[in-house]
Amino acid sequence: MKKIKVGIIGTGSISGVHTAGYKALENVELYAACDINEQRVKDYAQEHGYKHVFTDYNEMLKLEELDAVSVCTWNSVHAPATIAALKAGKHVLCEKPMAMNSEEALEMEKVAKESGKLLMIGFVRRFGNDARILKDFIDNEMLGEIYYSKASYLRRAGSPGGWFGDKSRSGGGPLIDLGVHVIDLVRYLMDKPKAVSITGATFDKLGDRSNIKGTKGYRATDAEDNIFDVEDLALGMIKFDNGSVLTVETSFSLNLKQDSGNIELFGTKSGVKIDPSLEFYSEMNDYLVNVTPANDTALSFTGLFENEIAHFVDCVANGTECISPAEDGVEIMKILDAIYESARTGKEVQLS
Ligand SMILES: NC(=O)c1ccc[n+]([C@@H]2O[C@H](COP(=O)([O-])OP(=O)(O)OC[C@H]3O[C@@H](n4cnc5c(N)ncnc54)[C@H](O)[C@@H]3O)[C@@H](O)[C@H]2O)c1
Repeated sequence: MKKIKVGIIGTGSISGVHTAGYKALENVELYAACDINEQRVKDYAQEHGYKHVFTDYNEMLKLEELDAVSVCTWNSVHAPATIAALKAGKHVLCEKPMAMNSEEALEMEKVAKESGKLLMIGFVRRFGNDARILKDFIDNEMLGEIYYSKASYLRRAGSPGGWFGDKSRSGGGPLIDLGVHVIDLVRYLMDKPKAVSITGATFDKLGDRSNIKGTKGYRATDAEDNIFDVEDLALGMIKFDNGSVLTVETSFSLNLKQDSGNIELFGTKSGVKIDPSLEFYSEMNDYLVNVTPANDTALSFTGLFENEIAHFVDCVANGTECISPAEDGVEIMKILDAIYESARTGKEVQLS
């Protein structure tokens, strides 16, 4: 069995789940790791058994035998690292968001096409067991026509710190970081309608709430580096070409009771809520009924990164068609750009 030699660019917080996903696969060899922080990457390579260590990804990409890389850097490095890797003939799994904006994303997509290599975007929510089962329900018409969806990903005091709050490295706040997950998941579940018009609003009323004491949630590796010039709350309304509407709300800081993640899709036959478990709302014999799948795995928010990494490796090793390709990343970046533009101008944005 030929082993796929993989490399990681960016060995911070999220890279651990990529490495765990690769380690779980017999046909993968952990080959090279790169981070601009030399001590971090050395420790990481030693802990996980990566053979080669680099502080410059251009040097790492010179390794002829390297087959594929995960790009797990802060967002501003996604485009340059991905483009360099594709040009060096490597397959790429790029973390979400695909890029800082749609212009960069389009360039990445173009280079991927020219290189003939795979560019997969890490829309990990698509790979959860809950999403897989819900997609099966939707593909089999169990919801009827879906004409309205709501997606929220709200944190009360949940800025991850560090580069996440620094617009020059993140591209934005909770919308580009968290909103990207839920907007993509809804669009994916609905069989990828095209966004046609978008209205958005952003706020920066509470900042990063770094004053708040107590336990923090997800954190960047260099979280103490506290620049915060991004929005703390973003809202959007997206109209799709199939006539359906999605409303989205996402925050790093908001005076709400508790953090929440929730996606609801409303169809003519039934509605469904995903997060933290699947629940369907419909009618039966003229009564309103709520239905939950009886199988535990159908209910759970599990399998995400293992399934995502296994799919990437399957695509690389066996040429399986990728279910999270670059073109989807581009569409999502166009939506995010439009929400930010509408928030800035106060006008609805039309997408062609
Ligand atoms: N899929 C998810 O659910 C999920 C969750 C968290 C983060 N992410 C994404 O993963 C990416 C990384 O986030 P994180 O939380 O691990 O951040 P992090 O700050 O913990 O790690 C980023 C790492 O990238 C390194 N880096 C920066 N520039 C580099 C360069 N030019 N070459 C090599 N390394 C470089 C940094 O030194 C750091 O170690 C982000 O794009 C983020 O949006 C995805």
